[in-house]
Amino acid sequence: MGPWPLDPRGPQAESIAFVYWILFACAVVVLAIVVGALTYSGIKFRDRPGRVAQQIHGSNTLEVVWTVVPTLMVISFTVLSWNRLNFINDVNSNVAMTVKVEGAQWAWTFTYPDQQMFKLKDGTTLQAGEQLDIPVGQKIKLELTAKDVIHSFWVPNLGGKKDAVPGHTTTMWIQADQPGTYKGQCFEYCGDGHADMLITVVAHPQSEYAAWAQTARTDAERLRDPATAAGRQAFLSGPCAGCHTVKGTTAAGKVGPELTHIASKPNIAGILSPVNQENLTKWVRNAPAIKPGIVMPKFEGTLPDTQIDQIVQWLLTLK
Ligand code: CUA
Repeated sequence: MGPWPLDPRGPQAESIAFVYWILFACAVVVLAIVVGALTYSGIKFRDRPGRVAQQIHGSNTLEVVWTVVPTLMVISFTVLSWNRLNFINDVNSNVAMTVKVEGAQWAWTFTYPDQQMFKLKDGTTLQAGEQLDIPVGQKIKLELTAKDVIHSFWVPNLGGKKDAVPGHTTTMWIQADQPGTYKGQCFEYCGDGHADMLITVVAHPQSEYAAWAQTARTDAERLRDPATAAGRQAFLSGPCAGCHTVKGTTAAGKVGPELTHIASKPNIAGILSPVNQENLTKWVRNAPAIKPGIVMPKFEGTLPDTQIDQIVQWLLTLK
């Protein structure tokens, strides 16, 4: 099932779904009793020719029952909700890590904690947009704020909603019990792009989380590397752009395959796998040696080696 609060995948969402089902079941029972009694009386005591209505002056038993039973129900709902709210609002005990979340028109930014695992070479901390990666089975505290207007963070399978308010920090926590991808959505109308303000939480097995962080750091470093910008420049102004399209750039060639998401593809030209630095370099240097007869020429000797390396570096950022 998709992003749906009644498909809980973590302890907080479970506790919310539990309260929901109890309230829903009680509401159904009350509805059945009230509508049943109304229907029954309506049919049984309806007006008929010659019939004189019987006058009744109260029933103590009935009045006690319909006062005491609803009172007890409301009190139990209060106690139950209070108990669950304490659990949901407890953002501080057993927290594995704290992520800062900023909502802005119209995207979310996640800043990972100030720990070695998330440190980049320039001393800053790993940041990500739209997607938050967390370890499974751990309580993740979120510190929310907003840049412009009020937004609301909600990943239904993992927990409740919380507003992100400009100038304030609000807190909540999420936890996923199984690895997977959980979708969410800004839940406070925040302007034209509100519907596009999506959230993706990816939960990794704990044993794989460090490896994910390593990859994320490498990707972030690569984006900031001046060689990447140089590679982009070389690609767009060189022969590459004549044949290949990269959406969002001036490269619009139609001869070769589109490279907009080359770094996420399973292979290069259907033949070289995986798409990594080593294989891309081999390919750009001498594609005909790998796939004889291909239109793409050999660039070894045509382009300087450093330029080929820079182009490959940029291609690796095209996810
Ligand atoms: Cu942000 Cu709606």
